Amino acid sequence: MCGIVGYVGREQAAPILLEGLSKLEYRGYDSAGIVVRDGEKKAEVIKAKGKLENLSEKTNNGLDIKGKCGIGHTRWATHGEPSELNAHPHVSDDMNVVAVHNGIIENYQELKDKLIRKGYEFYSQTDTEILTKLVDYYYKKYKVGPIDAIAKTMVRVRGTYAIAVMFKDYPNEIYVARKDSPLILGITDGDCYLASDVPAILKHTRNVYYIDNLEMARMHDGQIDFYNLDGDIVPKDTVEIKWDAEAAEKGGYEHFMMKEIHEQPRIITETFNSVYKNGKIDLSEIGLTDDIIKNISKVTIVACGSAYHVGMVAQYVIEDLVRVPVRVELASEFRYRSPILSEDDYVILISQSGETEDTKKAVSEAKAHGAKTLAIVNVVGSSIAREADNVFYTLAGPEISVATTKAYSAQLIAVYAIATEFARVKGKIDEEKYNYYINEILTLPSKIEKIIENKERIQWIANKFSSAKDVFFIGRGIDYAICLEGSLKMKEISYIHSEAYAAGELKHGPIALIEDGILVISCLTQEDLFEKTVSNMVEVKSRGAVLLAVTTYGHYNIEDNSNYVTYIPKTDEHFMASLAVVPMQLMGYYLSVSKGIDVDKPKNLAKSVTVE
Ligand code: AGP
Ligand code: GLU
Repeated sequence: MCGIVGYVGREQAAPILLEGLSKLEYRGYDSAGIVVRDGEKKAEVIKAKGKLENLSEKTNNGLDIKGKCGIGHTRWATHGEPSELNAHPHVSDDMNVVAVHNGIIENYQELKDKLIRKGYEFYSQTDTEILTKLVDYYYKKYKVGPIDAIAKTMVRVRGTYAIAVMFKDYPNEIYVARKDSPLILGITDGDCYLASDVPAILKHTRNVYYIDNLEMARMHDGQIDFYNLDGDIVPKDTVEIKWDAEAAEKGGYEHFMMKEIHEQPRIITETFNSVYKNGKIDLSEIGLTDDIIKNISKVTIVACGSAYHVGMVAQYVIEDLVRVPVRVELASEFRYRSPILSEDDYVILISQSGETEDTKKAVSEAKAHGAKTLAIVNVVGSSIAREADNVFYTLAGPEISVATTKAYSAQLIAVYAIATEFARVKGKIDEEKYNYYINEILTLPSKIEKIIENKERIQWIANKFSSAKDVFFIGRGIDYAICLEGSLKMKEISYIHSEAYAAGELKHGPIALIEDGILVISCLTQEDLFEKTVSNMVEVKSRGAVLLAVTTYGHYNIEDNSNYVTYIPKTDEHFMASLAVVPMQLMGYYLSVSKGIDVDKPKNLAKSVTVE
């Protein structure tokens, strides 16, 4: 996700735009740009790669740019490397239309082909430039006004967007449109503001309009008019924002972590949609052709921390669906083991930041042995993304909280897509099973929303254990992999020592640690292992443990052997990690909050470990 801003009114626009963008940098920061028009004069576009300060320096904090109407953008790249050329605003060649965009245009390729056939050329790699030129195309082809041109564009486009558009023929006006991406409009006497999020306009006004999905607006002469897709006026009242600035940056949530937990349904949808086209999973844009997939005979997954836990889930899922051996390695171990690899090996590296030093070195190690490499990464243009042969970008947007949640979930989706498509190409599943798995993946966002709706129950349970000193997580198969992540969440943000064990391992030593009152969290989502794990729960309960079970609706008999139970919806067992991890994320969060810890910045940790 990125941040967009806009201003039209009585003041010089550039300083207001830059100040607004500075409040949105948490939403993305690989490049930035503004466009300002001074009355009838030609619009001036200024862009800069890197942090917003580079743009501020380029414009002398906006003081060198004249004009009272402008829009701006701080970018988190999804289509096209971070660069000045790919930075927004994007323009039609004659500067008739200039736009900034937050979101993802899914059918950008077909639209680009259409516009090329109509004589358009493209200077950037972004989907946004295509969107901008599509508005220009409709504006000129149908000789309609801005609202009609944007409406025609919205009908033609698939994806998500919050856009702000300026037209040469309407010099003191800004037009906006929204579908799924956030956008807020503010107004004071004589001035109009737009932004992706409240913090960017809070300094100027608390009187805002909420623009609904598939609505447009025209900002001009100190007023804002709203339109529906038919071009009809939509009357709206302003709402007064009660948040303070800091709360506003977190979207009203107390911490970024809770905000990011809530973003998981949306980013799972966006990540899956990046490869889900016309009812099929299409990995060709990632460079994974059927021929390459058919030749993959063994997979090694290399990562650190939570990304390694995704790899543990992936091992079970890929081996079960694709029937090729998968081994998972900690990057910090892999690179010192002189791994036995050859050109027959396929190495998948998972990293949210794309900058983790150990994982970065692992890419080089794998390539040095002739292995093919695929990176599953969240930051476009990051070191690991650039080094790997192919990249599957997760579209989680910037993850601010040190404890990963939405990026972990997005990585899981990438793994499910890869496993399902590999299984199809290799003839391990038929069309019916293929479609079944896709449909199951498509149900995950709504099921996660249902779990989050019940978060207060997790809070109630967590508050009973804020003085806990040792916690055990136990599970079998994918449930064990889920426990690894649940345990790390608890360790890293509540500072409570916890360990995840394969439930079958308890009797080989760890059960010696069980004593009265110790919390054991058991994960039971795998039907064929359910009774086995229940047996382990009985073993520890008989030794005084207090049990919290995470299992699916319907297994109500689990309450006979548990002190607490949190139920989650069912989905295909291969994908249960996406659901079972949510209560564990919330458990770690609420424990941390109950202990007064800075959830988003836990001690000793960094968001990206760029040292060995
Ligand atoms: C997880 O909450 C931690 N932030 C940490 O374990 C993280 O997953 C690990 O450092 C790997 O980071 P990466 O995904 O950016 O490579
Ligand atoms: N898809 C657009 C781009 O890659 C916007 C990305 C965003 O919303 O950050 O430039």
